[in-house]
Amino acid sequence: MTAGATDMTAAPYAAPAAPRPARVSVADLARMAATGRRIAMLTAYDASLAGVAERAGVDVLLVGDSLGMVVQGHPTTLPVTLADTLYHTRCVVAGCARPLAIADLPFGTFQGRAEDAYAAGVAALQAGAQMVKVEGGAWMAPTVEYLVRRGIPVCGHVGLTPQSVHTLGGFRVQGKSDAAAAAVVADAKALAAAGCALLVVECVPRALGTRLTAEAGVPTIGIGAGPDCSGQVLVIHDALGIQPGKPARFVRNFMPGHDSIEAALAAYVAAVRDGSFPAPEHCF
Ligand code: KIV
Repeated sequence: MTAGATDMTAAPYAAPAAPRPARVSVADLARMAATGRRIAMLTAYDASLAGVAERAGVDVLLVGDSLGMVVQGHPTTLPVTLADTLYHTRCVVAGCARPLAIADLPFGTFQGRAEDAYAAGVAALQAGAQMVKVEGGAWMAPTVEYLVRRGIPVCGHVGLTPQSVHTLGGFRVQGKSDAAAAAVVADAKALAAAGCALLVVECVPRALGTRLTAEAGVPTIGIGAGPDCSGQVLVIHDALGIQPGKPARFVRNFMPGHDSIEAALAAYVAAVRDGSFPAPEHCF
């Protein structure tokens, strides 16, 4: 090639040639929780940010139905379709090699017949996810068992379940009274007994997050559930301070003091690992 000529054989957006690391497995999550290594999870919806999150050390990427709010601009997660989730799951999985990928099953795809939940779960795993997440309490246990028996790992989601925003009367802290806390604990135990390998716990008092982590029998991932969970998750847009308006109490914007998205996400991972996030001001 003559000096100054463009090498047309090189891909314009070439992937690095380094060997790809093994993906975090569902069994790895249990090992991390058992050894006290806090699990750092973020949402992701596209390949580029999935790659940045991977380089920052994130263990788990959730293709959350929060995409309906932060990507599509809706006021709730309810308009997200299975096709949306599958598309974004394929994008995320293509963009990273190490983080475990969880696909959030959208509203209306799993709450009815277990066979329909299974079809949605199969599609999610065929899109590249290793696990699906379903919102709901003990009433979801038979469906969870149906999926797990057929090879689909499941992450439960208790406390504030945003797909039920209209029956809950808004995005509100759950489990505040003794009776409500006991109901959330019963939900978590039923889901774990049915085979959930992971449990997202959203917007509950700190003491309830601690209790769920001690009693559920599976790793817990908190979002507004205090620092004693086995790990933490944030919507990536919240962790980067992208969303307009007043953030929820449990959100911390990791961008200030960092000159790149990767550095901010690495600070998130470090704060989750050393237990400094969430701090008392992020707890209920
Ligand atoms: O959809 C989502 O992003 C979630 C997390 C907030 C846990 O469910």
